[in-house]
Amino acid sequence: MSKYIVEDTKKITSTRFTAMKAEGKKIAMLTSYDYALARIVDQAGVDSILIGDSASNVMAGNANTLPITLDEMIFYARSVARAVKRAFVICDMPFGTFQVSPDETVRNAIRIVKETGVDAVKLEGGAEIQAHIRAILCAGIPVCGHLGLTPQSINKFGSYGVRAKERAEADKLIDDAKLLDEIGCCGVVLEKIPAQLAAKVAKATRIPMIGIGAGHEVDGQVLVVNDMLGMDPSFNPKFVRHYAHLSETIADAVGQYVSDVKECHFPSLEEQY
Ligand code: KIV
Repeated sequence: MSKYIVEDTKKITSTRFTAMKAEGKKIAMLTSYDYALARIVDQAGVDSILIGDSASNVMAGNANTLPITLDEMIFYARSVARAVKRAFVICDMPFGTFQVSPDETVRNAIRIVKETGVDAVKLEGGAEIQAHIRAILCAGIPVCGHLGLTPQSINKFGSYGVRAKERAEADKLIDDAKLLDEIGCCGVVLEKIPAQLAAKVAKATRIPMIGIGAGHEVDGQVLVVNDMLGMDPSFNPKFVRHYAHLSETIADAVGQYVSDVKECHFPSLEEQY
């Protein structure tokens, strides 16, 4: 058994999650998309699990996050929520489900919570979707924001490069983070922005700022679980640390199995009835 298995399964609620900042406790968040992996990730002690719309890339093989549908996100989120006992579970609202109107946004957020059992939803954007976020909060659903590199806007940005390097974009990002704090979000993901700016935003806000490619002076970190487990060795951005090399481990296991079957080394006498 892993030395990292956590015995304490007391649920991390949205209030416990948000309070971790004031308590000076760093937040460890990872994505997950299926029951089996989410169970391990939860038992190993992450504070929060995100069903990211990165599922579009890492699970479905799309080139970006735009094609994934609400029904597909609900399928992944339901599988994850079933597995998790302790972590605070957040589900991304996919592209097209929160941009049209506050009414449509809240209807989709309610669908996510009702049909999956997750604790909160996450939306990309700041002031421009303020009314949409307020509508979800009014329905009693905790909301996590997402600022900086917002992959659903890839066609506007034109690349996945670092955001907010210029003064105007950095100022807007600080204002957006303060706004999300004021209106009652439970936290904000800051993706791929200069570390100095992320540190400034974390200092200027009361809710946790969770960084991905945003340096260490924030309130927590999030990574895509497939990336940190080394499922795709060719994906090597600067902000990802490979804690395992699973693509190699899995290929070795599968290759050994294929060879054992072909050489009649599997099953053995002990492995048959
Ligand atoms: O979709 C996702 O996995 C995310 C993380 C990168 C924060 O939004």
